[in-house]
Amino acid sequence: MSVSYRFTHAITRKPSTSITAGLRAMDIGTPDLAVMQAHHAAYIAALRSTGAQVVELDALEAFPDSVFVEDTALCLPEAAIIMRPGAPSRLGEAAAMAPHLAALYADTRQISGADSFIEGGDILTTETEILVGRSARTNAAGIKELAAVVSDWGHKLREVFTPPGVLHFKTDCSLLDGETVLSTKRLAASGCFDGYKIIHTAEGEEACANTIRFNDLVIMPAGFPKTRDALVKAGYELREIGNSECAKLDGGMSCLSLRFTPRA
Ligand code: GLY
Repeated sequence: MSVSYRFTHAITRKPSTSITAGLRAMDIGTPDLAVMQAHHAAYIAALRSTGAQVVELDALEAFPDSVFVEDTALCLPEAAIIMRPGAPSRLGEAAAMAPHLAALYADTRQISGADSFIEGGDILTTETEILVGRSARTNAAGIKELAAVVSDWGHKLREVFTPPGVLHFKTDCSLLDGETVLSTKRLAASGCFDGYKIIHTAEGEEACANTIRFNDLVIMPAGFPKTRDALVKAGYELREIGNSECAKLDGGMSCLSLRFTPRA
């Protein structure tokens, strides 16, 4: 049974009205809350359609980016590790997530070093290793601390690099199955996926690299027909979800959930 894309649980958080103040690299418009809520509902329905139990947490008005729960934790079968986000406005989101993971996991750990910063969006867990991209939000100290934590369970962690100007490592890639990734050409060119099968996003469709494999589904942002067709041709069962509003805040499919199977 795969530990990297078969899951019994997911946690999501409702978007707050403060989402209009969410962080963004470039201002391409104010997110429309009602549209985002509709997209979010469709996303949760897609997760639930696979049979998983999906927790929907209440909105956190004090944290505009808190809909992007993935950045708050790394969820492994053995334990949940609470992250230390590199964006100062997001630090408190991790503490707010901790009790919800403690309710589902017997073991939770914490990245706690004062100089350690790491966000879940920079972490791609595959069947054989944990890839962590150094970025503007994730630093060497955070990666070193996480490597020490996950070594308790024998997990191999490899440091890689998020391309300059890209928010998170997973902004540019996703896991499709045990040996295949979807990646932009610019990220794959770094060689970080040598040894994996790679499906490239189509030219001009780099913004759809952040998909998720969740049980039988590949959930991807709507509006990227060439990449969608390539994934269908490769045999994946696709579900397209509107992402226009989250995209204004550099968010994608992985950012909206924590996905996991806590070991009993
Ligand atoms: N807007 C998502 C982030 O910058 O973390």
